[in-house]
Amino acid sequence: MQIEITPSVKNLGQKNLGGVVMYRITDKKDLSPIDYFIEVEAPHVAKAWKPGQFVIFITHEKGERIPMSVYKAEDGKIGMFIRKLGKTTLELYHEFDVGDTLWSITGPLGKAIEVKDYGNVVFASDAVCGHAENHATLKAMKEAGNYTISIQSFEDKENVYPEKFLAKSVADEYYLTTQDGSMGIKGDFLDVIKGLIENDKVDIIFAGGNLGTLAQLAELTRPYGIPTITTIRQIMVDGTGMCGSCRILYDGKIRFACRDGPMFDAHKVDWEDVIRRGKRFLELEKRARERYLQRLNEKHGKEVF
Ligand SMILES: Cc1cc2nc3c(=O)[nH]c(=O)nc-3n(C[C@H](O)[C@H](O)[C@H](O)COP(=O)(O)OP(=O)(O)OC[C@H]3O[C@@H](n4cnc5c(N)ncnc54)[C@H](O)[C@@H]3O)c2cc1C
Ligand code: FES
Repeated sequence: MQIEITPSVKNLGQKNLGGVVMYRITDKKDLSPIDYFIEVEAPHVAKAWKPGQFVIFITHEKGERIPMSVYKAEDGKIGMFIRKLGKTTLELYHEFDVGDTLWSITGPLGKAIEVKDYGNVVFASDAVCGHAENHATLKAMKEAGNYTISIQSFEDKENVYPEKFLAKSVADEYYLTTQDGSMGIKGDFLDVIKGLIENDKVDIIFAGGNLGTLAQLAELTRPYGIPTITTIRQIMVDGTGMCGSCRILYDGKIRFACRDGPMFDAHKVDWEDVIRRGKRFLELEKRARERYLQRLNEKHGKEVF
């Protein structure tokens, strides 16, 4: 359902909680022209969250439920890396500022990653998914005594996050790639992983990213028997395994990405089914984004995005 964005929308959360300030935005920064960092007070989530788990936030009373990974949970606050993709992620960027409140944050949801001593742990992520998990997972893995190898792929130099937000600080070995070669290694994380496998440097791989790339990663590591755990992003609604929206075929059985994942053994995932289901609402999402951008540009009297 479409709603009209008005300046009053952004503080509905605060008003409706009877003046109790919850889910207050405490920081917001550009990471690149298309990604931003946002930090929000959510003490109950920050206390219980573990790497691999996610949250679902709602920006205002009539907003959609938006699943989001967590990059950091500290001091009662959670930090998220958000891509301006469609209506809600653009609305949050353009209509909400530090001091405003979100309507709700539910979580932590999903299963946490098992943190133990694996040996050499790789985390690979790209512009589509996984930079938050990359940092969070490798931080925990390093603390558990593993040798951590991070690979982060971006489209080009312009889209690379500021150094402070890269997973470099939690990696013993770090690789940055760009599709066009304008910074770091040219290509995507698959190219780096091939080299690491040849040098026998990989005990386990975790990865987030474009579903097509993850499917290729599964085929790359299968012959070597390297455990490969990948994030499966599907359209989520309730986030608790009730609605069925995020169902996937896993080892021939139905599983729910929100409840049983979001990270799964890539060698057991039916990738064709996952990729097909991920495209279900593309046309509707495109229309919602266009309508929102039209309203936003009209409001500002110029092209804002
Ligand atoms: C477990 C999980 C973790 C995620 N972590 C991040 C993250 O760290 N950073 C980030 O930028 N994005 C993340 N996403 C994706 C994020 O939820 C979507 O970008 C967001 O919902 C887009 O909403 P929109 O209204 O702006 O765009 P829309 O135009 O509604 O959607 C754009 C695209 O976002 C995806 N999407 C839309 N709605 C949902 C939904 N309800 N559930 C899942 N995917 C959806 C679809 O691929 C869709 O094509 C995550 C998704 C999941 C399932
Ligand atoms: S989001 Fe409803 S079952 Fe996963």
